Amino acid sequence: MALPNKPLGETKAVRDPAVEEREVDILIVGGGMAACGTAFEVKKWAPAGTKILLVDKAAMERSGAVAQGLSAINTYVGKNTPEDYVKMVRNDLMGIVREDLIFDLGCHVDDSVHLFEEWGLPIWKKSADSKNMDGKKGQSMGTLKAGAEPVRTGKWQIMINGESYKRVVAEAAKLALGTENILERVFIVELLNDANNPKQIAGAVGFSVRENKVYIIKCKTMMVACGGAVNIYQPRSIGEGTALAWYPVWNAGSTYTMCLRAGAELSMMENRFTPARFKDGYGPVGAWFLLFKAKTLNGMGEAYAGSDAAKKELQKYAPYGTAAITPTCLRNHLMLVEMKEGRGPIIMDTVTALADLAKTMDKKELKHLESEAWEDFLDMTCGQANLWCATNTEPEKKNSEVMPTEPYLLGSHSGCCGMWVSGPDFDWVPAAYKWGDKGKVYNRMTTVLGLFTAGDGVGCSGHKFSSGSHAEGRMAAKSMVQFIRDHADFKPAIKETKEQLVDMVYKPVRNFLDHCNYTTAVDINPNYVKPAGMALRLMKATNEYGAGTATYYLTNGKNLEIIMDMLQTMREDCEKLGAGDLHELMRAWEIYHRIYTVEAHLRHIQFRKETRYPGFYYRGDFPGQDDKNWFCFVNSTYDKAKNEWTLLKRDYIKIIP
Ligand code: FAD
Ligand code: ADX
Repeated sequence: MALPNKPLGETKAVRDPAVEEREVDILIVGGGMAACGTAFEVKKWAPAGTKILLVDKAAMERSGAVAQGLSAINTYVGKNTPEDYVKMVRNDLMGIVREDLIFDLGCHVDDSVHLFEEWGLPIWKKSADSKNMDGKKGQSMGTLKAGAEPVRTGKWQIMINGESYKRVVAEAAKLALGTENILERVFIVELLNDANNPKQIAGAVGFSVRENKVYIIKCKTMMVACGGAVNIYQPRSIGEGTALAWYPVWNAGSTYTMCLRAGAELSMMENRFTPARFKDGYGPVGAWFLLFKAKTLNGMGEAYAGSDAAKKELQKYAPYGTAAITPTCLRNHLMLVEMKEGRGPIIMDTVTALADLAKTMDKKELKHLESEAWEDFLDMTCGQANLWCATNTEPEKKNSEVMPTEPYLLGSHSGCCGMWVSGPDFDWVPAAYKWGDKGKVYNRMTTVLGLFTAGDGVGCSGHKFSSGSHAEGRMAAKSMVQFIRDHADFKPAIKETKEQLVDMVYKPVRNFLDHCNYTTAVDINPNYVKPAGMALRLMKATNEYGAGTATYYLTNGKNLEIIMDMLQTMREDCEKLGAGDLHELMRAWEIYHRIYTVEAHLRHIQFRKETRYPGFYYRGDFPGQDDKNWFCFVNSTYDKAKNEWTLLKRDYIKIIP
């Protein structure tokens, strides 16, 4: 159940919180697209009486990456085939992907889109004379399921009126699960392994961000879908723009950190997403490129991307660079070449694009087109629309700058970092890609028994987006139910005592309360460090040494060696985090999660001695790709008892020719 909004000011933290202990069969951590998928699906398959609980750090209605809404669904297979979908994802991610996971997702994703429409999400349709019909007009054309044509922008994307997208999806999830089985505004801190089998999941511990209360939850199986990671690198937005980022600021790498600390194997953590976005407002570019057919120009006014020089540059990265659709990282690479050679800034030519479209339109249609240009941002990044207003930018009259942003980590958008999970139980899935227990295969289970993930949590299969993340949550739900049926006699046992867990979760509060009277300025104290200070320290270090914007995304072995040392110190200093209120306690745990996540990212970059994703990051000491040695997955595990990382290669197996 959601707690009411709090009164003004933060809730002060107390030394000894209340403790609530729960025991359920299925625990869903996160309330975003993937978790909503799991919540919607799980009860349909679960035996009567199965206890299920969903825990979200925020309010599901507006939590996660879809909080502001979206203006497109980027994965709808429709008349394409799952094989084509695999080929598209493989090409965009420079060849190294898990084709089993992608194919499996491609077979199911449309069903989630059909559900969204059934639940009330307006999807644009083509009229009989091929005009774009949005809103109610679109709805009057019938449903996608019944055969109506969506408005395709690219081969995979369809347009929606999606400001309320997350509300629609969350409502269905809540209805399916029952609000009595949902805890909102509870931040999960750590996963707990089973006392009798350290390779099995048995529960999680977290705290309420609205009242002084710690939750200890035992479970037989768990979905962890807490999205990706933002603010691990210094954002381009500073000063007045602080807190602006493209990726939702509340996703702090919890998925990766909690799973890796529980012993789950990570994969392709070196992959990152460095999106090109409208400068300073982070407005997405997809609709501009695909729907409005806009081009980007360099500072000389040249359409550099199609130039002979660009073609020559892309040849270096064949076959991906020379594919019909240039991969996202290489589109960035071309942009960076222009910027570094002094031909910046990069400009989205909105004026020409809208003028060209207007040629075949009457006045009313033109007005509608202009409102669509605004709605694209109002639906999903309203800060960009605000910035246009503030800077007198009418896109039909004035162009806007585009810029590669700071890096983000995610597994569902145009990136593919995450957990190494089992694929589905089909003959065609290689043995190395499927696993489980007692002779059963559990689709989307990590290498920790009973621990599942989906959406941004699943590695090696990007381009799922909102629809694919939801579908993947649903697919995992079925496996989770199978798991509890097969492990009906499993009694989760936690080795940590209640007191030990409370000591751990509330340590930053106690650090603060023990020392806050020592100085007059509450943020400055020799005995504790505030999470805000630690966040700045982390972002400065990653920006400078870990291939951030400061170095045009360039790093090398020596820089990585230096930052590993800094990260180790930061982790030690996290023992001294201080939190005076519950919001700050959440910030303390977020920064803790961020540090582990970015460490995993950088350790993978350190291990992979090539530059697999030019435009996302570069290894100065290993420029270019080395297929002979590195056409493989890089995986890692972390041993929390020994504080030791292990990195390894795993084979890439081609399934779709
Ligand atoms: P999310 O939906 O982000 O959910 C994460 C959840 O975890 C949230 O509920 C959060 O509150 C919760 N959480 C986090 N940490 C904790 C914790 N420690 N304890 C408890 N709960 C926690 N897709 C499209 O199809 N079309 C688009 O146009 C599109 N545009 C996008 C624009 C932006 C700006 C972004 C960021 C993404 C966009 N996407 C788009 C992609 C899509 O939003 C994601 O693929 C999808 O939301 C991923 O789902 P998820 O469940 O993995 O993560
Ligand atoms: S959004 O999710 O924040 O809107 P973005 O604008 O990058 O993301 O992309 C939306 C969709 O358009 C994604 O499927 C992305 O791969 C695709 N896309 C964006 N730009 C291009 C381009 N220039 N060429 C082909 N596809 C593109």
